[in-house]
Amino acid sequence: MFRPLETGAPERAITLTVDGQAVQAREGDTLAIALLNAAIVPFRHTALSGAPRAPLCLMGVCFECLVEVDGRPNVQACMVPAREGMRVRLPRGARPMPASHPDGAPPR
Ligand code: FES
Repeated sequence: MFRPLETGAPERAITLTVDGQAVQAREGDTLAIALLNAAIVPFRHTALSGAPRAPLCLMGVCFECLVEVDGRPNVQACMVPAREGMRVRLPRGARPMPASHPDGAPPR
C-alpha cells in the first residue's frame, strides 16, 4: 500500500514499543508511517462505540490517528517523528478519569 520514496540516503533502523511489543521502524518516518509499515491497524478504538480507527489524511487534519506516546494521550501519530525508545499505547475505549481530575467527580 505504501512505498517510501527512494532518496539514496542510508536508512537507520530504530526500535519503539507498541503496547509493549518491540517494533522496528526507519528513522525519519512519522509514527503513523512506522505503525502502518509494521501492519499495526487499527490505531485505536473509539471511547463510545469501540469502533476501530486508523489514519486517513496523514497530514494532521482528521484526528483518526490518535495514540498515546510516552504517557501523553491524544498524540497525532502522523504529526510526530518516530524515534528510538518511543513508547506507544493504542487506546481502547474510554480512559479512566483520575480521581484528582476536576471533572473526576462521581456521576450524578
Ligand atoms: S491521519 Fe489524519 S490527523 Fe493523523
